[in-house]
Amino acid sequence: MSAQNILVTGGFGFIGTHLTERLVADPNNHIHIVDNLSTSSIDLEAYLGFLGKPKNLTYSICSVEHFHRKIASEPDFHQIYHLASVVGPVGVLSHAGKIALQIVNDTDRVAQIALRTGARIVDVSTSEVYGGGRDGYCSERDFKVIQPNITVRLEYAVGKLAAEISLINMARIKPLNVSIVRPFNVAGPRQSGQGGFVLPRFITQALAGEPITVYNDGRMIRAFTHIRDIVEGIILVMTRGANGEVYNIGNPSNKISIIELAERVIRLTRSNSNISHVDPKMLFGPLFEEANDKYPDADRAIHDLGWHPAYGIDEIILDSCEYIKSKRRD
Ligand SMILES: NC(=O)c1ccc[n+]([C@@H]2O[C@H](COP(=O)([O-])OP(=O)(O)OC[C@H]3O[C@@H](n4cnc5c(N)ncnc54)[C@H](O)[C@@H]3O)[C@@H](O)[C@H]2O)c1
Repeated sequence: MSAQNILVTGGFGFIGTHLTERLVADPNNHIHIVDNLSTSSIDLEAYLGFLGKPKNLTYSICSVEHFHRKIASEPDFHQIYHLASVVGPVGVLSHAGKIALQIVNDTDRVAQIALRTGARIVDVSTSEVYGGGRDGYCSERDFKVIQPNITVRLEYAVGKLAAEISLINMARIKPLNVSIVRPFNVAGPRQSGQGGFVLPRFITQALAGEPITVYNDGRMIRAFTHIRDIVEGIILVMTRGANGEVYNIGNPSNKISIIELAERVIRLTRSNSNISHVDPKMLFGPLFEEANDKYPDADRAIHDLGWHPAYGIDEIILDSCEYIKSKRRD
């Protein structure tokens, strides 16, 4: 395969580091990361050392906006993975009122770079655009549901959806080649609890023998997907995805309620922790909102791209647990 210049925005985030790890392993690729480190939880030097300081990896520590302004001096890109975004049920709260604007603006900047350089884009959107789908079942063929309550979470979802729609419409009238990924509840090593993600919180509490804090009754349904399966799916969308098409990347076999997840974490970590039901608004304020039930129809990615999610819930928990234990030893 010919050499590929690849831009990864948000490449030092949770998903971005795993994606980068896969991409740099191919010496035909040259990867350039743009990341302002605003929500990255990695130790950059340690991560680059872990990768072996590869010569085919360069980076700009700056915002997408800044990078877009100085792009004239950058090489042409063949592929762009766009991941940079505010994210997480808690992570989004402090950006209320600016989230949608920033997501749409940054995505447009990425589209301008792609139009200038001829790159194909994979835009990493979110399963939140379904707003809960049909009783949690989310298919690309269904209507998106805009909830009646105006919440910060809705602003994130609508911003991501507007960015998707802009890209797909742009691809219809300009020489832009783009596919969209909607990931479902990504989890695994290097995920930090900072943005409000549930699994790192449960595991940290279980390992410390502290109460596992389940929000409200814990009956919310999710489909957790291992970070390695997500990265595999994202790369397949880049290499095999159709222009203007949207792909759910989430493992329907891993459908589980949050209360069941808490019980599974306690069992697999052999923890003595109890489960404590809490009102998250008491912890994070009135702007906090739980996501509706959601689990994917993944048929399009499975049949059209040959995506085969391989990791079950227990492996996701155990792999995350190993990582969190290793961080505690550092
Ligand atoms: N983690 C999930 O469960 C999940 C689920 C669905 C969708 N997503 C999407 O996947 C993408 C990556 O999520 P993640 O979980 O890796 O989050 P993350 O916060 O770990 O990574 C995002 C990275 O982007 C960087 N960044 C943020 N805003 C930026 C900007 N304006 N300019 C440059 N860099 C910026 C951050 O520093 C961070 O390193 C996001 O677009 C998110 O919406 C994540």
